Amino acid sequence: MKKIDMHSHFFPPIGREDAARLDAAQAPWLQIDSGGETGNIMMGDRSFRPVREALWNPAARLEELDRVGVAAQIICATPIMFGYRYEARAAAEWAARMNDLALEHCAYRPARLKALAQVPLQDVELACIEASRARKAGHVGVQIGNHLGARDLDDEHLVEFLTHCANEAIPVLVHPWDMMTDGRMKQWMLPWLVAMPAETQLGILSLILSGAFERIPRSLKLAFAHGGGSFAFLLGRVDNAWRCRDIVRKDCPRPPSEYVDRFYVDSAVFDQRALRLLVEVMGAERVMLGSDHPFPLGEQQIGAMLAESDWLDEQQRGRISAGNAATFFDIDITL
Ligand code: CO
Repeated sequence: MKKIDMHSHFFPPIGREDAARLDAAQAPWLQIDSGGETGNIMMGDRSFRPVREALWNPAARLEELDRVGVAAQIICATPIMFGYRYEARAAAEWAARMNDLALEHCAYRPARLKALAQVPLQDVELACIEASRARKAGHVGVQIGNHLGARDLDDEHLVEFLTHCANEAIPVLVHPWDMMTDGRMKQWMLPWLVAMPAETQLGILSLILSGAFERIPRSLKLAFAHGGGSFAFLLGRVDNAWRCRDIVRKDCPRPPSEYVDRFYVDSAVFDQRALRLLVEVMGAERVMLGSDHPFPLGEQQIGAMLAESDWLDEQQRGRISAGNAATFFDIDITL
């Protein structure tokens, strides 16, 4: 089974002084332990997350990919790198720097490592400029967060950005970040377990229920991380609400389930039954292998869940493991 993993992260080996150019107190930087194999993503003095070498060292990444038989992997920023809350020009400079570092990482094995760019989403004009620049520089698409503070994907500026990506044939991956919490999710990684899937569902529903999908060109290649979060499991609830309440359907002319052909999802759901539901809801042509490697909440044996999915036929499994991503990101599948 050929595998293209379309959802993985990198963090560049930038030190504290480098990050301080954006923000001395909060900008993320990488602290590498003396052995070189582990470290921490830091914010100021505080550890944000313990990490391992595959995150910043492409040789270590390739070793891990070889171990699990992944032919190609698409890397993107760790969401803490987005920089959306900074002044737009400073954020644009930061994004360009991170994007150049992503390409440096991929240059180690350019046929097998591809990158998605980040953009200064708080300024639609600068975001469009960076997306186009990155596309020309070699990025195979962009990754954006699912919201900008109180603005969701149906915000007119975000729709403008998505339309730009459609017009320039730039694929977009939406990743949840900055999870909703009112203080009740302090422990046990609850923001990642409860709020993250809801953030992703919110991103999808904001595009559907606002009618934004009616305005965004059909040519937009759009994907959501983590199997679309809570979306597939709760689609019946949303359809029922659309049928029964006029305030749900007021901006959305068609039943929500009719919009599943407007986007893709990755396969990172960690349960065979969930994957089966996801494929039934989205169709095998709209699910792509994605692992969230090399983080602890990612699939440790990339593609193992898919390899064990005996309810899929060979053709479906092949599309999910590599074919769909090859088409979506325009990657040479013969590698
Ligand atoms: Co991720």
